Amino acid sequence: MNLRTGRRRTLLLSAAVASAVVAASIAVIGTAEAATTLGASAAQSGRYFGAAIAAGRLGDSTYTRLLTTEFNSVTPENEMKWDATEPQQGRFTYTNGDRILNQGLSNGSKVRGHALLWHAQQPGWAQSLSGTALRNAAINHVTQVATHYKGKIYAWDVVNEAFADGGSGGRRDSNLQRTGNDWIEAAFRAARAADPAAKLCYNDYNTDGINAKSTGIYNMVRDFKSRGVPIDCVGLQSHLGTGLDSTYQANIQRFADLGVDVQITELDVAQGGNQANVYAGVTRACLAVARCTGITVWGIRDTDSWRGGENPLLFDGSGNKKAAYTSVLNALNAAGPTTPTSPPTSPPTSPPTSPPTTACSATVSLNSWNGGYVATVRVNAGSAAVNGWTVTVTLPGGSAVTGLWSATSSSTSGTVAFRNVAYNGQIPSSGSTEFGFQGTGSGPTGSPTCAAG
Ligand code: XIL
Repeated sequence: MNLRTGRRRTLLLSAAVASAVVAASIAVIGTAEAATTLGASAAQSGRYFGAAIAAGRLGDSTYTRLLTTEFNSVTPENEMKWDATEPQQGRFTYTNGDRILNQGLSNGSKVRGHALLWHAQQPGWAQSLSGTALRNAAINHVTQVATHYKGKIYAWDVVNEAFADGGSGGRRDSNLQRTGNDWIEAAFRAARAADPAAKLCYNDYNTDGINAKSTGIYNMVRDFKSRGVPIDCVGLQSHLGTGLDSTYQANIQRFADLGVDVQITELDVAQGGNQANVYAGVTRACLAVARCTGITVWGIRDTDSWRGGENPLLFDGSGNKKAAYTSVLNALNAAGPTTPTSPPTSPPTSPPTSPPTTACSATVSLNSWNGGYVATVRVNAGSAAVNGWTVTVTLPGGSAVTGLWSATSSSTSGTVAFRNVAYNGQIPSSGSTEFGFQGTGSGPTGSPTCAAG
């Protein structure tokens, strides 16, 4: 087309409709920013709104219409669990998991992986294993599944429901727990090595306020952070009854303050007079905490719910929006189009006034493959406690840091200085902490240096 003619035609057309356009835009001022779907409304503040979905329902047109219009994250309700992905030991089946993944990715949604290790929904062969054989099988499962989905999963529920209900604040008994208390950290390390880009979450229920169980989890996360065990997020399932714990938001906040994201991962609320209010309360609590990055409801219509007869979801069995839907949408829109602020960083720890001679050392262990590697760096204090550390590593030509956890870095190639973050700068005498990074090319070969202070 002749550009000049085309442009003139556009101008003429613009002039002809100008008065109508002015009138129309005046009419929409004030409501233009209120998004009309859950996903778009959550996205205004940089968050997602997701649903658990089932591969067997993807042929239902009402279901897929609601899924693709309302949600921008999906979680497989069952398709990525151990019994689904490794029905026989060492034989992996990803057909239905891949259907969920592709449904999400083709719709531009995030995909939450659920769940690598759990005491429930294990294949029969795993239920009959114990000890070293079970530990090895479990870690192999984590490695294989996380590798299959490498680079495609936003966040993995690496370990699901490992804490006991009630007042103990301790671990739940299970075959996995009986392999040794370190099974959870072993799973997180294996997941990080297999898929360094995925956020790694610990996920549980009955954690809907500050209580003994959530405090047990809180203490584990704090311990993992201090020792450099890779963990990025905590999932609060939030299968709720008719009320909301008054400490729901404070609980989210205290996890965020440890330096992890929080996600509401399996929200559903018993139907009752309060359902819409409880949904709105959960939504507002998440929006009030910068590190609460998204909400997932555990199903789409009441008839899709695992809580048969409780009608706990946002759409009725015919796919109509319920009052709870409107209350969530309004709560999301009330937050307005803001981006969550980055979490406050703690002020740098001030150096000791008369510095004692502190020393530290560091060692690197590499997990390499053709074209890349994950480096895990252990930072050791000497005979005096360390208050802040910098580890310097020289990368060979062609290597660049592409991912980093539990430290910050001065650059991504050449000589790279890694500095502690707020929660792992202080190492007691003779103690140690860990950080890690992923890189392209081949990993560092020389010894790292460590400077304390
Ligand atoms: C449920 C599914 O919704 C059901 O279809 C299945 O029969 C049992 O598991 N916590 C979790 C989820 O982490 O995986 C569970 O999902 C619900 C409780």
